[in-house]
Amino acid sequence: MSLVDPERRVLSGMRPSGPLHLGHHQGVLKNWVKLQHSYECFFCIVDLHALTTDYDDVAPLSQRVMDMAVDWLAAGVSPSSATLFIQSQVPEHAELHLLLSMICPLSWLERVPSYKEQQEQLHGKDLGTFGFLGYPLLQAADILLYRAGVVPVGSDQLAHIEFARDVARRFNHLYGREPGFEEKAEQAILKLGKKTATLYNNLRKAYQEQGDGAALETARALLKDQQSMTLGDKERLFGYLEGGGKVLLPEPQALLSDSPKVLGLDGSKMSKSNHNAIFLRDSASDVEEKVRRMPTDPARVHRSDPGEPARCPVWPLHQQYSTEQTCTWVQEGCRSAGIGCLECKAPLIETVQQELIPLQNRAADYRDNPDLVRQILAEGADRARSEARETLSEVRLALGLNYR
Ligand code: TRP
Ligand code: SF4
Repeated sequence: MSLVDPERRVLSGMRPSGPLHLGHHQGVLKNWVKLQHSYECFFCIVDLHALTTDYDDVAPLSQRVMDMAVDWLAAGVSPSSATLFIQSQVPEHAELHLLLSMICPLSWLERVPSYKEQQEQLHGKDLGTFGFLGYPLLQAADILLYRAGVVPVGSDQLAHIEFARDVARRFNHLYGREPGFEEKAEQAILKLGKKTATLYNNLRKAYQEQGDGAALETARALLKDQQSMTLGDKERLFGYLEGGGKVLLPEPQALLSDSPKVLGLDGSKMSKSNHNAIFLRDSASDVEEKVRRMPTDPARVHRSDPGEPARCPVWPLHQQYSTEQTCTWVQEGCRSAGIGCLECKAPLIETVQQELIPLQNRAADYRDNPDLVRQILAEGADRARSEARETLSEVRLALGLNYR
């Protein structure tokens, strides 16, 4: 049985709700590309989540999923470092969602802020479904299925990660107390060998009697290093350390990326629905056209009026994409009316175009080779499934669903 270290395992997901834009690239994909070298990463195209809001418009879904896979690959998410897969190709997501639904209080779902917010914001969509109410639980299942301890997300997702933690805690509380837990834990300690067992006992005592957090950390590290121990025994000893039961589903943590939010053409957050996005597949002339049309400092009516970058939506894009030298040139030129707005936009247009060219070239290669993309996704789903099955067999066992 493989041993999972939740703190080294990353899971994240993205809804295939349309073409990706610079905000996805800058805020999400670049971060994933970095993480894939230092963590065991699972990246999931969450097509079932797309259905929770778009069940009445399924025709574009499969193409969006394929486009998303191509754009991830083009951005440098690498199938040799990370596992890329489609959520619905791993049916264990749906199964864990169902099993967790048994213990998930309705009130927890109803008070997740996105539930009411989305209902108010997304007009013309029926969000009065069971599926939509269960959105955060499906997301919790995505994460808990892989025992992922680290979930890179934007700050808008914090409530969902907190919810996943609550569900995990409740599950562990209800089912981690297997019959004979203490005896089983004591037996597992004996299997550590005499020296390690003494060390474990001392550290456990230091934590439980004196609240020594460093001792808890050391004991956890000690357990992590135990190569020959079964996953079950390991979970018992993790749980026993803190005085609880078995940790069947580890509680995940959000990992917020430090890159600032990408703002769109109008200065508000870039998103498809705000109609202010530069898409990764926009041509060079699309980019030029979009940036040229961007509004600027409203106080700068005439070319001879000095402007203020802080009041101009072009400025945050410069800060994101331009060199320090160009940024200085913009600030000085704008405030002294030394440059015009089109002049100011020219280097930005150039840099964004340059940023997109290699991405689009790689995307074209993958698009010309759809079988390769399908194969990458199938292999990803296989890898994901074998991890998912291990968790589910423990979950089934805990719930008494083990028939032989
Ligand atoms: N709800 C997330 C979003 O809208 C997408 C998502 C689904 C996700 N499952 C996930 C993110 C699991 C992280 C982990 O962005
Ligand atoms: Fe904006 Fe540049 Fe025009 Fe200043 S010069 S208002 S920063 S576009």
